[in-house]
Amino acid sequence: MGKDKIRRFEENKSFKCLYQPDFEEVFRRDHEMKGRWHAECFGNENPIVLELGCGRGEYTVGLARKYPDKNFIGVDIKGARMWRGAKTATEEGISNAAFLRTRIEFIEWLFSPGEVSEIWITFADPQIRRDNKRLTAPMFLDRYRKFMKPGGIIHLKTDSPYLHEYSCALVKKNQFEVLAEIKDVYSDMERGMLSPEMSEILSIKTHYEQHFLSQGHPITYLSFVLPEDKKIAAPEWNHDLYPR
Ligand SMILES: C[S@@+](CC[C@H](N)C(=O)[O-])C[C@H]1O[C@@H](n2cnc3c(N)ncnc32)[C@H](O)[C@@H]1O
Repeated sequence: MGKDKIRRFEENKSFKCLYQPDFEEVFRRDHEMKGRWHAECFGNENPIVLELGCGRGEYTVGLARKYPDKNFIGVDIKGARMWRGAKTATEEGISNAAFLRTRIEFIEWLFSPGEVSEIWITFADPQIRRDNKRLTAPMFLDRYRKFMKPGGIIHLKTDSPYLHEYSCALVKKNQFEVLAEIKDVYSDMERGMLSPEMSEILSIKTHYEQHFLSQGHPITYLSFVLPEDKKIAAPEWNHDLYPR
């Protein structure tokens, strides 16, 4: 392991906003923070918003700055990446941002029913042909709604036509309520087609996003309401339609 990574892992231990449960603490058993994020982590009852696969946590920190009346938790398995977000939140004293280092597969052991209001999925791997790994596949949506409030919202920002179109097909198949669908975020922004608030939120750029933008890939956005109980069906889907 490189020196820089070792230094970041060491510094991670000092961040009060960073939670790093051991595997045994979350593998098919409730973690001690489950149901206690409002009281123990944030000290308020404001809505909790997750960023799944947060990487360096640009959305977690950016949204926390913009919305002091909501709480944000970035979730990722890579500690050296989250170090960036946790350090910025610590240095700037952003008290409504936290980070959780864990596998997203364990998330239902970390949050209790109704504890989370919204989820952002930012530039996740499309997991082509790997339905059980894709973060918007029925298996993951079923996990999320175990701990989401009624009317909980999913936001998906991606450069991947595969992930965007798959998610749109799933939303359509299940007749979920769509709040927004944007095929080219920055083109719509330039043409003044987005509200000032939407423009501000969607212009937060992540590390991966900057890389994809430099390659000329359009960035898409989809947000929808995740219903509480209806069975979620997979869409009819041709895996070969989109190469990435
Ligand atoms: C392509 S990167 C995007 C990172 C960041 N959102 C960005 O846009 O720069 C995907 C991130 O998801 C994380 N990730 C992927 N699968 C995961 C899982 N099952 N549990 C936790 N993190 C995961 C990876 O560690 C990685 O940081």
